[in-house]
Amino acid sequence: MRSILIMNGKGGCGKSTLCTNLASYYAYEEEAKVVIEDYDPQGSSMDWLTVRPEDYTEIKGVKAWQGTSRVPRNTDYLIMDAPAGIHGKELQKLVHRAQTIIIPVLPSPMDIRAVAKFIQNILLVGKVTKKQVRIGVVANRVKEYTLIYQQLEKFLKRLDFAFVAKLRDTQNYVRTAERGIGIHEMPPSSVYDDLEQWQAITKWLKSKRSMPEK
Ligand SMILES: Nc1ncnc2c1ncn2[C@@H]1O[C@H](COP(=O)(O)OP(=O)(O)O)[C@@H](O)[C@H]1O
Ligand SMILES: [Mg+2]
Repeated sequence: MRSILIMNGKGGCGKSTLCTNLASYYAYEEEAKVVIEDYDPQGSSMDWLTVRPEDYTEIKGVKAWQGTSRVPRNTDYLIMDAPAGIHGKELQKLVHRAQTIIIPVLPSPMDIRAVAKFIQNILLVGKVTKKQVRIGVVANRVKEYTLIYQQLEKFLKRLDFAFVAKLRDTQNYVRTAERGIGIHEMPPSSVYDDLEQWQAITKWLKSKRSMPEK
């Protein structure tokens, strides 16, 4: 089973958006058995699943914030949606369940400062320093030619983690989220640029570079 954790100490940076779109990618493109574990009591990913139309490939949801979590044995992909403000033991627990961590970051001074602190916390987890889990960052809600995006890009490139992709700021994510689907389940012509940006994420996740050293 492939396990991917979407995490950042900050709210609103796109964790649930990445989580649900990744889940829908694997369900739709690979017809895989996908489970979302939602650790955020706000339950955005679970809300998304409730409005998911019945004729779309099933994605299972686990309200993991309630404590116990049972993931079916035949699961191909486990995607975990972490809550904002996660730290200490909770953070360690989630990191230990993951092969790969994706950290979405917004181009804003506050978000850049917050993620710098969050990364210091992550680096305290032994599994991370031993490279038993791989970390990639995704710049989200990017407006390419803005000064703040250039600053974010510079910051992300200096990190020791993979700078995996950038996702533009577009209502496509808002509209699909409303309907319980992902951008991969839209007519390609309406989300062409987004599909192209997502290729960087799915390609990285398929590559050895996103898999832990044994
Ligand atoms: N690339 C994007 N373009 C436009 N809106 C986005 C994008 N990514 C996320 N959003 C919107 O931003 C808000 C916060 O995103 P969300 O995924 O819920 O963040 P988090 O789970 O980290 O709190 C949501 O309303 C979501 O639809
Ligand atoms: Mg969320």
